[in-house]
Amino acid sequence: VQTIRWEGDVAGSLVLIDQTALPEQCVARRCRDVASVVEAIRSLRVRGAPAIGLAAAYGVCLGAQAASAAGDRAAFLAQLERAIAILAASRPTAVNLFWALDRMRRTATSQPPDRSPQQIASALLDQARAMHQQDRDTCHAIGRHGAALLRDGQGVLTHCNAGALATAEYGTALGVLRAAHQSGKHLHVYADETRPLLQGARLTAWELDRDGLEVTVICDVAAAHVIGSGRVDVVLTGADRIAANGDSANKIGTYGLALLAAAHEIPFYIAAPRNTFDLSIASGDQIPIEERGADEISQIFGTRTVPEGVPVYNPAFDVTPARLITAIICEAGIIRPVDPVSIRRIVGSA
Ligand code: MRU
Repeated sequence: VQTIRWEGDVAGSLVLIDQTALPEQCVARRCRDVASVVEAIRSLRVRGAPAIGLAAAYGVCLGAQAASAAGDRAAFLAQLERAIAILAASRPTAVNLFWALDRMRRTATSQPPDRSPQQIASALLDQARAMHQQDRDTCHAIGRHGAALLRDGQGVLTHCNAGALATAEYGTALGVLRAAHQSGKHLHVYADETRPLLQGARLTAWELDRDGLEVTVICDVAAAHVIGSGRVDVVLTGADRIAANGDSANKIGTYGLALLAAAHEIPFYIAAPRNTFDLSIASGDQIPIEERGADEISQIFGTRTVPEGVPVYNPAFDVTPARLITAIICEAGIIRPVDPVSIRRIVGSA
């Protein structure tokens, strides 16, 4: 699947697979302006930390198209900065969004002073395309490193979707499973359905099944029983933001899985690119946790399941403390033990 693609030249547009329509329909959606990219990110048409970053980078290209009409360079850069600010306000937790927007800003502001808005817009598109290619390479490298941690015949439990749909292609956690599968290891994958928006049931199961991996969907609440019954040898997830000490934010429910893995003495691995690390924060308690609307919990497919007026709390992410993470797999290798020194050694040089 091609989650994200840019069609055309600098006057082109962004085409996204609408992940809210899967698995029933695999349909594309075209974004021609910044507002439609923000809408796509907020509504989870495009989701997963790396994919959000790439969509936002192309969103800046759409912002540059509109700003090119502004005439002079200063007005262009001011309008571009407003577009970046609007994109930055789309979702708070995945740091890849801010990483991507920062790169795009630096690309624009570091152009030589004689460059016209049109030339800067073209440099921005080149930058977004380079980041897109970088994410493809990164996912395949994560896959190669991570596959070495898995053995033939193992059961692997994963949560949410850290797959091709969440990245440029191949995926992070699912990239590891794909690479192991391609090297001839037979795995059985358990995909948590991932309440409330069912990224595991709808997206992970769809992706893995299409690629011929053996996948079984379980309710999130079945995880303790399934692990306890000995079917799971490894828990493997992605991440949205990893602090300098290794504390890792990922889809709500991940922390519980890490506790279960520790209780049952099986490894808990995270697969994530280096741009998911936020070395500016010392620990996970500084990671902003997105809270989403009550409707995601109080209604299921349009039918009310919580009595009218009863409050609902809907945090979209939780933070797994570093001490529960056996290793983090990134494109530069395996970080183990998960502590500030090993993280700085492998990620700090990126
Ligand atoms: O709310 P989502 O679907 O964007 O949450 C995504 C996750 O939690 C993923 O596990 C994470 O972004 C890693 S994607 C490679």
